[in-house]
Amino acid sequence: MAIPQSFLDDLTARCPIEEVVADYVALTPKGGNLWGLCPFHSEKTPSFSVSPDKHIFHCFGCGKGGGVIRFVMEMESLSFPEAVRKLAARAGLEMPEEDQEAQRRRAHRRRLLELNRDAARFYYETLKSPQGEPMLRYAQEKRRLTPTYIKRFGLGAAPNAWDSLIRAMTAQGYKKGELLETGLAVAGKNGGVYDKFRNRLMLPVIDAAGDILGFTSRVMDDSAPKYLNTPETALFKKRGILYGINFAKLTKRGFFLLVEGNLDVITLHQAGIDNAVATMGTALTADHARLIGRYTHDLVLCYDNDSAGVEATQRAMTVLRDTDFNVRVLQLPRRRTESGELVKQDPDDFIKFQGPAAFETLLSGSEDQTAYRLEVVAGKHDLTSNEGKVAYFKDIVPVLAGLPSAVEREIYAARVAKEVDISKDAVLHEVNAYRQGQARRARRQRERAALTPAANVQPKARSLRYEDPRSARAEEGVIRLLFLDPTLLERCGELEPETFSVPLWGKLFGLLRDRGGEAVSPAALDGELSADEADLLSHLLQGPQSLAESRQAMGDYIEIIRAQAAKRLGGAGDPVADLLATQAKRKQKDRMGG
Ligand code: UTP
Ligand code: MN
Repeated sequence: MAIPQSFLDDLTARCPIEEVVADYVALTPKGGNLWGLCPFHSEKTPSFSVSPDKHIFHCFGCGKGGGVIRFVMEMESLSFPEAVRKLAARAGLEMPEEDQEAQRRRAHRRRLLELNRDAARFYYETLKSPQGEPMLRYAQEKRRLTPTYIKRFGLGAAPNAWDSLIRAMTAQGYKKGELLETGLAVAGKNGGVYDKFRNRLMLPVIDAAGDILGFTSRVMDDSAPKYLNTPETALFKKRGILYGINFAKLTKRGFFLLVEGNLDVITLHQAGIDNAVATMGTALTADHARLIGRYTHDLVLCYDNDSAGVEATQRAMTVLRDTDFNVRVLQLPRRRTESGELVKQDPDDFIKFQGPAAFETLLSGSEDQTAYRLEVVAGKHDLTSNEGKVAYFKDIVPVLAGLPSAVEREIYAARVAKEVDISKDAVLHEVNAYRQGQARRARRQRERAALTPAANVQPKARSLRYEDPRSARAEEGVIRLLFLDPTLLERCGELEPETFSVPLWGKLFGLLRDRGGEAVSPAALDGELSADEADLLSHLLQGPQSLAESRQAMGDYIEIIRAQAAKRLGGAGDPVADLLATQAKRKQKDRMGG
């Protein structure tokens, strides 16, 4: 449902940004702004500012910024509508009516989530009762989990009985149909209904918003299946679930650690590695990547060091290849047993035998995984045959070309040269040719991106690459002035968003123009802008802008923008100009088409 702008205006007026931020961050006034320690990155001296006049926050350290809604989105890791809902509750505002069907669906979902929460409570109580003794012993003795982490992750025990949960939940007013719908109960052949989970250690699966979507569970001996999950339901969709995300999203480490097992996640968090997450025993999907991307674009993969783990790492790499994730691989060493045998170990084993400090050491060294990547590629080819060597060489050149340091490229080129029996110089020649091709491709891509609205925002760098700095500066001025004095819109005449050289500033101009000269709080735009765009806007609004001579200034800016656009679009047959023109036409058509 689109939330009406009038409601958002009302909401942001009733939620002054300085008050909302003060709920989370201690602020001290200094020079018209309020300052505090940034909640989005670690720092010792305050570079996080809140401007009550401009209705924005901005961190000069990490670059995060935006309006009050964006702040709540980032702080609580919520979507735009979720953040609006939260602020509405804070301000005592009734959310605008949704259609009845949507209302019914939402209420039903909430009811099922409540049931899951009550079930988790039941399992947790059972864990502390005599019935839960075997599970508690397993968790504490076999898995070495402390009471704190058992509680933190909400572990529980499913009694060794057919219908304990069903009886407890129906006594609380839940219907059998609801128990079936959440997957907590299953229907038997003769029409009976019994508990899905029996005699197991229970792990609630919690999403980023803190809701319990379902459960995973482990047997306490060697029987099968070792792990049993909630079946796919309306709530529990494995392809988008990351176990541990509710805690990992709060990490200050700046990256996520992806591991295979659910219990590995708990052990890692207990060892202070608070950014560990796991899929529900399935391969990484694009949905998972998108979810992770809400928090970080840096990911360390730490799958088991057996062939299945290598396979899983490769598959995850494939999913992540076309994204802007930085992926590193952390390979755990095998462990030598007392009898001298080398055995695989997962993070849980590693921490048990080597301790958390050793894991931290490995983690900080995981950048140096070049050798591992080369080995993986080599492992895919038969290096005893000439065809195998050629195929290997073709595969390995892009890997070498991707190494950022020339020294590293030399070293590994020498190694590859030996493997395929050619000179090191020949290898380096190929690698350099590949790099040049790559640079050409990247430049073309940048040129294309600059023509796509909002796409030339470089999300990583949190800065814009200005193709036309002269126009861009003027565009910045227009946006700043319009925020300071929206009535200046009447000076903008026929200026079109497409005339802007920077798509983001053009997009903002369009948004402001659509408000027809009314005052706009940046918070009201939080729903229209991506997090990166909001950062850039808050940064822009921090810049100085005098309102003296503002009408004259606006006129000058517009003249510059027009003149520069004419220059850019001037040359006939210029492919850039053509593209821009078609784009402008398409835009116009979209607008006319409604
Ligand atoms: P592993 O068997 O590698 O897990 O399965 P683990 O965490 O090392 O197991 P233990 O408890 O230490 O012995 C990794 C993940 O694969 C899924 C689970 O999500 C598990 O955490 N899995 C595994 C299943 O879904 N079903 C199974 O029967 C086994
Ligand atoms: Mn394990």
